[in-house]
Amino acid sequence: MLSPSDKPANRFRVRACARLFVVTSALALLYGFGVAAMAGNERTAASGAHHVGLADSRVGYESTAYVTDSKVVIQALGERQRLVELSENSPLGLPAVAQALNSAEIDLGRQLFFDRRLSKNETLSCAMCHIPEQGFTQNELATPVGHLGKGVRRNVPSLYNVAFAENLFLDGREQSLEEQIWSPLLAENEMANESRKAVLVKLGQNPQYKARFAATFNEGLTAATLGRALAAYQRALLSGDSPFDRWHFGVEGSVSQGVTVEPYPSQAARGFSVFQNSGCASCHQIGEASALFTDGQFHNTGTGYRRAGRALRPPSVQLAPGIFVVPTVDAETETFTDDGRYEVTGLEADKWRYRTPSLRNVALTAPYMHDGSIATLEGVVAFYAEGGGGDPAQDPRTQSLTLSQSDQDALVVFLRTLTSNHVDALVSDARSVAIGERAAGGQ
Ligand code: HEC
Ligand code: HEC
Repeated sequence: MLSPSDKPANRFRVRACARLFVVTSALALLYGFGVAAMAGNERTAASGAHHVGLADSRVGYESTAYVTDSKVVIQALGERQRLVELSENSPLGLPAVAQALNSAEIDLGRQLFFDRRLSKNETLSCAMCHIPEQGFTQNELATPVGHLGKGVRRNVPSLYNVAFAENLFLDGREQSLEEQIWSPLLAENEMANESRKAVLVKLGQNPQYKARFAATFNEGLTAATLGRALAAYQRALLSGDSPFDRWHFGVEGSVSQGVTVEPYPSQAARGFSVFQNSGCASCHQIGEASALFTDGQFHNTGTGYRRAGRALRPPSVQLAPGIFVVPTVDAETETFTDDGRYEVTGLEADKWRYRTPSLRNVALTAPYMHDGSIATLEGVVAFYAEGGGGDPAQDPRTQSLTLSQSDQDALVVFLRTLTSNHVDALVSDARSVAIGERAAGGQ
């Protein structure tokens, strides 16, 4: 086992840790136990989808008297799936996977993804911000809380189908999944490790990880192989084969696999026409044989402009019923400003451009937009119907959409049919990992 590396050095730190304990207890409630109850009709659940769902309705959530409907999943360990097979035969509606995946790498990556010891004080795993039951994002928080209660300015993106993302992060500052890991691992307001070396030394001192890396990679544990393992697991999170895919990309294929195909709702079909005719598909693209619902490019829909008009730093973030924290301030979060793609290119035209998100599984990934500022799909569609955020520099395609109420309703119904039939299996697979001490194959 690893020894904690973040011993409190003085009274201030002790207080900070005590507070963190409260915060992490609340987080444990949210993440460890999973928030699996369904709110309203936010998701058209696949039958038996007991692992998956959005959060509670949250009426009265600001009070500690709030009673949750969430299901307890901590004991309900899931079932390991054959993720490699999924990648060899890409799910309906997805492109083929470019790189062959390796089962041992995926297994090691999955283990690491759930291990809190990857953060400096061993409280935060990747999975606590990218929560399997919540679309590998967070439904509870518009923007996440990292190390010692520090705020992070952007909404957590879903990791489904991240294998196909050419530009990573909402501003596209990274291209490689193998390299990307160092951003959360080292960010002071996320996992807060001091350096790559510190992470490697710590993991290398763990006999189980050391052995598993040696067995999986010729070169053993290195910065590169740590990246490869985590990337392998994330690349395996392929989720297509939604009701939309079955309708649009070939019902026959699904029937021959013994799957009962329910008729596609006529309102969803109408929503799809609205989606195409309103230009949504020019950014959230749909190809001939597959669809990622993104062009992978950066656009200004007016969300940045709208955000700049509000107080930028959230005064407090609600973690759990009746539990609020005021995120502490650091260099990045001092103003919570976010200029989007401009921060990478320095081009004025890129100000407030963000990467077009995929709309696959969008019913599972609320809240929406780069800052989590829109709570529901109805809200997002209404945002477009109002002409976006109102920035004069906004992409013209989002400036004057005419969407009647019935168009808007149909769009939402269509968007809800983009939830993959693989989601439940992938969540179950995620929870096949033993968490904590047992994680590295130990006691
Ligand atoms: C404190 C919460 C938090 C933790 C912990 C965290 N992430 Fe993230 N993750 C985020 C946020 C927020 C973003 C978006 C950041 C941005 O765009 O600037 C993100 C983005 C990503 C992306 C890019 C996805 C995309 O669509 O571009 C990947 C991949 C990712 N994280 C993987 C990981 C892995 C692997 C770990 C563990 C080593 C991890 N994350 C830990 C919050 C977190
Ligand atoms: C000019 C390109 C463009 C067009 C046209 C467009 N979108 Fe978007 N869409 C984006 C971008 C960029 C974002 C992310 C904005 C942000 O993060 O602040 C987004 C976000 C969304 C989201 C939220 C997804 C999430 O995970 O946060 C939904 C839903 C959505 N769009 C649906 C639509 C619909 C429906 C239409 C047509 C009415 C449409 N979009 C038209 C570029 C576009």
